[in-house]
Amino acid sequence: MKTGLDGKVALVTGGSRGIGRAVVARLVDEGARVVVVARKPEALEATCRELGEAVVGHATNVADEAGARAAIALALARFGRLDVLVNNVSTNPYFGPLMQIDRERAERTVQVNQWGTVLWTQLAWQAYMAEHGGRVVNVSSIGGLMPEPNIGWYNGTKAAIIQLTRQMAQELGPKVTVNCVAPGVIRTDMSKAIWQRHEQAIAARVPAARIGEPDDIAGAVVFFASDQARYVTGQTLVVDGGATLGQGMVPG
Ligand SMILES: NC(=O)c1ccc[n+]([C@@H]2O[C@H](COP(=O)([O-])OP(=O)(O)OC[C@H]3O[C@@H](n4cnc5c(N)ncnc54)[C@H](OP(=O)(O)O)[C@@H]3O)[C@@H](O)[C@H]2O)c1
Repeated sequence: MKTGLDGKVALVTGGSRGIGRAVVARLVDEGARVVVVARKPEALEATCRELGEAVVGHATNVADEAGARAAIALALARFGRLDVLVNNVSTNPYFGPLMQIDRERAERTVQVNQWGTVLWTQLAWQAYMAEHGGRVVNVSSIGGLMPEPNIGWYNGTKAAIIQLTRQMAQELGPKVTVNCVAPGVIRTDMSKAIWQRHEQAIAARVPAARIGEPDDIAGAVVFFASDQARYVTGQTLVVDGGATLGQGMVPG
């Protein structure tokens, strides 16, 4: 399958670890050059070193507009184009019932997850994609599709990302496609508290009989970034090993 990514330039937020890092590695395999964004320079530098010359890092918080502008300017200055934006960062600073969340953490979650997704897309659009076209791939979660205990506010922002994907697909066509991937439980630092305690119980309930690995998600992101998805926009692909299929109402 030809992805058409050879020679293209991508920017991946949250690309120093976890799902984002797996996406960067796949994009590099396909011949793309990549700007990787994360806050902590150490992990960022290690990722750039390990993945080679095609990868350059930029340290910033995605909620920082000046940092976002600088990252996009870096892609254009270093590589001369920006074909693919992967809005992969989300934060989840609060674990507990919605009735007890405080305003500070509620606003921080929205700033990073929801506003961050729109801000980076706006800036990529203005700086390059409105004229030259491009691909935007957002990362939501199966939590954006159904209620789960204790992560209701985060899940609300993940639901918003699914809807923002549709809205932006409508606004940015035909130049730019905007699609979204909704992972299930994936073995990364972010979900460590869940899979360290519940890996076997989750595997027992999922048709794929295991939790996901970061590279399971990277394939779906690369598909949306590729020529193969040229006629797909506004869509969310659930990549969860079948976790959200449910069991139906009739006992087996
Ligand atoms: N893991 C799962 O089970 C799962 C399930 C469903 C959806 N997702 C979604 O998948 C995406 C990636 O999650 P992950 O599990 O791969 O997370 P992860 O392993 O914790 O990695 C997060 C990455 O984002 C960076 N980052 C975090 N906050 C940032 C910020 N405010 N500004 C800039 N960079 C930031 C981190 O580096 P620094 O810490 O250095 O900034 C790191 O590179 C998220 O949108 C998450 O909601 C994950």
